[in-house]
Amino acid sequence: MATKVMRADSPQRAELEANGWSVAARSFGARLDADRIDESRLRRLVEQVAVGVSVRPLDDRDVDAVLALDSATGGDYPGSVATRHALLDREGATPTPARRGFGAFGPDGELVAMTFVDVETDGDGSAAETDFTVVHRAWRRRGLAVAVKAASVLALSAEGVTRFRTGGSADNAGIIRANTVLGYVRDEEWITLERAAD
Ligand SMILES: CC(C)(COP(=O)(O)OP(=O)(O)OC[C@H]1O[C@@H](n2cnc3c(N)ncnc32)[C@H](O)[C@@H]1OP(=O)(O)O)[C@@H](O)C(=O)NCCC(=O)NCCS
Repeated sequence: MATKVMRADSPQRAELEANGWSVAARSFGARLDADRIDESRLRRLVEQVAVGVSVRPLDDRDVDAVLALDSATGGDYPGSVATRHALLDREGATPTPARRGFGAFGPDGELVAMTFVDVETDGDGSAAETDFTVVHRAWRRRGLAVAVKAASVLALSAEGVTRFRTGGSADNAGIIRANTVLGYVRDEEWITLERAAD
């Protein structure tokens, strides 16, 4: 199967569809600019997360826990090539100044949710984009995705990041709702076109 990912309003789309390509998946991009960040609200979303859960930045000590949570959830990402999550290797699981991680830990200290964010390093450091966010299956629908994403926005905006981006599958109701709760505005629509190989 051949695939092409493009903006939904791409001029190429009509011709491709006329030639046998069809939409196999939809995805989106969304942005959160500094002027839309409601700090006190985001702080509440972090502090009032589920009982016994604490949220903090990830560091070198967390790499094994990051790899374990990643491998337990690697098959859970909806969508197609455009939103596929490649399993992390040790380097990808290690937070750095350009790749920041934020996690939520359960009452027994187990990592139960995490988000990784890439911070622009070749410009003025004012832009950041979420790589992925994931929550342990047993801990979903308790505000943990919102809490770790809120923690990332608060920490990075305190360091001067003013433009945040995120995205995902248009079929992913959970992450779409989480982004809306945080103030993200959907501003890009993408499609994945597929056609059987000749
Ligand atoms: C998507 C995901 C991260 C959401 O995590 P979560 O901790 O369950 O989300 P939250 O509890 O913070 O929920 C945020 C909002 O989304 C809603 N929500 C969560 N999952 C939902 C679902 N499956 N369907 C509809 N709404 C959902 C919640 O009710 C909440 O809305 P509210 O504040 O209005 O009540 C989690 O389902 C997951 O890990 N999925 C697999 C990986 C993935 O798809 N990651 C996102 C792409 S990078």
